[in-house]
Amino acid sequence: MDFDKTYQYNFPTIIRFGPGSSKELGDYLVKNKLSAPLFVTDSTVVQLPFFKEALRDVQKKNISTEVFSDIHKNPVKSDVYKGTDIYDSSNRDCIIGFGGGAAMDVARAIVLRINHREDLFKYDDLIGGDIYVTNEVPHFITIPTTAGTGSEVGRSAIIADDETHQKKILFSPKLLAKIVFADPLLTMDLPPFITAATGMDALTHNMEAYLAKMPHPICEGIALEGMLLISESLEQAVNKPDIQSRSKMLIASLMGAVAFQKGLGVVHSLAHPLSSLLDTHHGLANAVNIPYGIEFNIAGFEDKFKRIARTLALKQETGEAVVRYLFDLNSRINIPHKLTAIGVKQEHIETLADLAIADFAHPNNPKPVSRDDFKNLYLKAL
Ligand SMILES: NC(=O)c1ccc[n+]([C@@H]2O[C@H](COP(=O)([O-])OP(=O)(O)OC[C@H]3O[C@@H](n4cnc5c(N)ncnc54)[C@H](O)[C@@H]3O)[C@@H](O)[C@H]2O)c1
Ligand SMILES: [Fe+2]
Repeated sequence: MDFDKTYQYNFPTIIRFGPGSSKELGDYLVKNKLSAPLFVTDSTVVQLPFFKEALRDVQKKNISTEVFSDIHKNPVKSDVYKGTDIYDSSNRDCIIGFGGGAAMDVARAIVLRINHREDLFKYDDLIGGDIYVTNEVPHFITIPTTAGTGSEVGRSAIIADDETHQKKILFSPKLLAKIVFADPLLTMDLPPFITAATGMDALTHNMEAYLAKMPHPICEGIALEGMLLISESLEQAVNKPDIQSRSKMLIASLMGAVAFQKGLGVVHSLAHPLSSLLDTHHGLANAVNIPYGIEFNIAGFEDKFKRIARTLALKQETGEAVVRYLFDLNSRINIPHKLTAIGVKQEHIETLADLAIADFAHPNNPKPVSRDDFKNLYLKAL
């Protein structure tokens, strides 16, 4: 590790973690003199009993509620504009992102848009747009209901262009939630498939963050513990969930997102184009690609792989053993090993490789990735 420069490390979010913590929302709003939240969620969560109960609980405290749930599975710019219109027309004073990563990302992008009305993609981080995020933003609260993206503690929102489907990343430290209510009880009834896909997203965050090139011992420690917690709980959370496994997965997913302020890598750049082109769920796209992308990174980073293997208590402390572990874990939680099983065809490969090389995640990969590397990885996974 090179300690030859000065780096900035940030850990500022207040996290209320534990079963029932989401019940504190009403008191928190009252204490902070917030009386008109916009709840941003999706069309499934809006119908779930815990969501309706959360609305009733805060309404009992004389808080006026408004809900926006009309969002795409992979959120697009027009979702953000629609939510902003509702915020404006119903005189809201704060925003609550309540749901999976998609809902929390839309909520965060609305937080940005309230006082930044240029075209949303002017703020795209890849083109240096974060410098335009200069105005105040509304009070922002997150309540995750999946254990995957960790978006609840993030500073970025991933929003796609309506037409091209290319994912853009909106980033600013101003977009951090003021408080997170991370309540594992809300994740108890997640279906097995969503638990598996989102859980593998969390594992990918921890593993890619650990390997990402920026020196960051704090995040690396968090990432290793995140991997351990997932190895102890994902299979159980998928196949026989209990509060213990749900709690471990929720905190590990949050840790993955804390850790990836260090950066992500090749696996996320393989995954993002699948969502853009084929609307594949983000976690599923990572899950299928992770063994291949991680294998690409072994040569030259054997020491780091040894640490990962040791953390996962593998018999052999090698990168190859880590790759075998990933395939095996996917089998145990019913994730396919091949891209063809999730709708990818040979004819998609060239476009996928073009999108992957343009993606924002791989510049932080421990080693450079070329367009040919992406193409070869897709072909291997096909
Ligand atoms: N901002 C970030 O740092 C970041 C990081 C990774 C991914 N993402 C984004 O997050 C999104 C994916 O988020 P996700 O994996 O949480 O998926 P998601 O938000 O799409 O949710 C998956 C499904 O689970 C359902 N669901 C959510 N909570 C539930 C519950 N408690 N019970 C039953 N069903 C429930 C949802 O309705 C949805 O159908 C993508 O858009 C991706 O780009 C953002
Ligand atoms: Fe992710």
